Amino acid sequence: MRRRKRRLRIDRVLICLLILVGLICIVRFTIYTIYGFKILNQAKKGETVKLYHDNANLWKSTVKYINENMDEITYTYRNYTVTMDSSYFKKNMNVKPSTENKKITNTEFLKQKGLYIKNNNIMGIASKIKLKLPHYLYKNGYVDLYGIDENGNYLLLESRKKVDDKYFTLNIYENYSNYFITYVKLESIKTTQSYTLTEGETKEIKVEFNPSNATNKKVTYSGYDESVITVEHGLIKALKAGKTTVKIKGNDMSIAKVKVIVEKKKEKKEEKKEEKPKVTQGEDGIYYIDGIMIVNKSYPLPDTYNPGGLLPEFMNAFNEMLGDATSDGIKLWIQSGYRSYDYQVGLYDMYVRQDGRDTADTYSARPGYSEHQSGLAADINNPSSSFNGTSEAIWLKENCYKYGFIIRFPEGEEEYTGYKYESWHIRYVGKELSNKIHEAGDISLEKYYGIESKYSN
Ligand code: DAL
Ligand code: ZN
Repeated sequence: MRRRKRRLRIDRVLICLLILVGLICIVRFTIYTIYGFKILNQAKKGETVKLYHDNANLWKSTVKYINENMDEITYTYRNYTVTMDSSYFKKNMNVKPSTENKKITNTEFLKQKGLYIKNNNIMGIASKIKLKLPHYLYKNGYVDLYGIDENGNYLLLESRKKVDDKYFTLNIYENYSNYFITYVKLESIKTTQSYTLTEGETKEIKVEFNPSNATNKKVTYSGYDESVITVEHGLIKALKAGKTTVKIKGNDMSIAKVKVIVEKKKEKKEEKKEEKPKVTQGEDGIYYIDGIMIVNKSYPLPDTYNPGGLLPEFMNAFNEMLGDATSDGIKLWIQSGYRSYDYQVGLYDMYVRQDGRDTADTYSARPGYSEHQSGLAADINNPSSSFNGTSEAIWLKENCYKYGFIIRFPEGEEEYTGYKYESWHIRYVGKELSNKIHEAGDISLEKYYGIESKYSN
């Protein structure tokens, strides 16, 4: 008797469990279907689809519709709004954002407070992520964004980026898996005490910032005699003989002063014939003209040359430019900066397979011949002809010389540079040279120096 009773109970429990599982399945299916319908209607109305589930198991036809008709999906999860390419959506229906926030205090570089965004499966598929910042970061109105690669190397990717009402939009960069968002307060500025120039000469004022990675490096120049000199974007232009003092004010209100003496230009008795500047090869195997590094189809870099990333002179100038661009409502970012010799091997090979060697040579440098290996060049925003003519491209073309940059492969200069027009590729040459090249009509470096850019084979 007893035995029968017990067996009966087990059977009942099993049946109940089966019914429960069945019910759960039906409820899940119903929720996903209703949710799927809602999303589908949103998509059909042309609205941006927002997914609020951290496990977006959607109805099949919704996914299909999204994949076929939409470019981007916005995915909201806790404090994160992740925008991803819709083609990734199908493949990643079950992605769970697991972005971690934590403060870093343990390494030399990251002594300051900040938000560390750790790599996770969302990073690989997102194009941008909107983050809510803690008070200590957003109260300053600006932040710095560093990219950290797998080996712990870091690079300042975006400087003085404006915080939009507590929120920060993190653009996902090609070479970085982790990110650090921080604000570094400027403590003081220092500069050379005096400069002597001759009439007509120009000179860049060198300002040192303490700490060197301060977020806000904007300075203003005032107090000088405008009949003796003019100062624009840190470049002194000597107008006529005299003495004056330039007051430099940093964002932290610290002040540095620099004395400027302008001497009279001596009349040259006989006009010397201007000699063509010569390209010299340094002991490091790199080619230079008057201290300016030359990298083109005629003057390669050694295979082993690796500056470790974009050089500080590039980054400082870029950050200065970024600040002004942002004030003008122009968004700029570095899409591709330093590229190693090995990286260029893969890139160039891919283009050769795609278009053949002759065509590839018109837009991609062979390994060792790319300026990207120099740490002094970068592609801005969107390295494609669709960037041409955009307000960002126009701003860059009209203003980059003020910060020491040139558009390295200008339109109409293909026979000199050996490359098609690239509105996005900038090269840092320093303000003195960039101003001269601008005055010469924004010509190519090759035309300016009268040098060639041709492969020997
Ligand atoms: N696109 C330029 C020429 C490079 O590959 O360096
Ligand atoms: Zn480039």
